[in-house]
Amino acid sequence: MPTHTLTIEYEELESSNELPEDEQRLIASAWTARQNAHAPYSRFRVGAAVLTKDGQVMHGSNQETANYYGSHAEKVALDSTGAAGIKDKVAKIAIVGGPDSLNPEDQATEPEEPVAPCGQCRQDIKEIEDLSDAPIVIILASRNTIRKVTGIKNLLPFAFGPADLGITLR
Ligand code: THU
Ligand code: ZN
Repeated sequence: MPTHTLTIEYEELESSNELPEDEQRLIASAWTARQNAHAPYSRFRVGAAVLTKDGQVMHGSNQETANYYGSHAEKVALDSTGAAGIKDKVAKIAIVGGPDSLNPEDQATEPEEPVAPCGQCRQDIKEIEDLSDAPIVIILASRNTIRKVTGIKNLLPFAFGPADLGITLR
């Protein structure tokens, strides 16, 4: 039986200074969005910021409920583009997170792994990318590690989507 290997592509940087300015600002917006996380149960706060093709920024943060069916930061930000009628205009998303105690203003003392979007959030990004004419830039940032991925195929290979249902959305 032949074994196939898939490669994923991403860039990794230690500082956001090396990124284009819109992406530096988007990461800062995600940290700001994280301030509004409501995470009394997990005490893990996530922030997300979406940049649209026409320069609008939409924010999201995790909003927990006692039944543990709260909303994830990425979904809040992505769904708010839908609510604003610009679901097909998402260009980039930045995601940050960490325990309550993590203060983005403090200097990190050792390398920090950026937060990774969960499987459901990857699906949410895929569904949005399928409405778009270009791969979405996904930026996962900690205080000292930035991973930049262009296209959800790099985070969600063999994705299930509208094409599997014989549907084309754009
Ligand atoms: N969380 C997100 O907001 N996004 C993800 O994709 C990973 C997890 C939130 C959900 C929950 O409020 C907390 O982080 C701990 O799982
Ligand atoms: Zn998620």
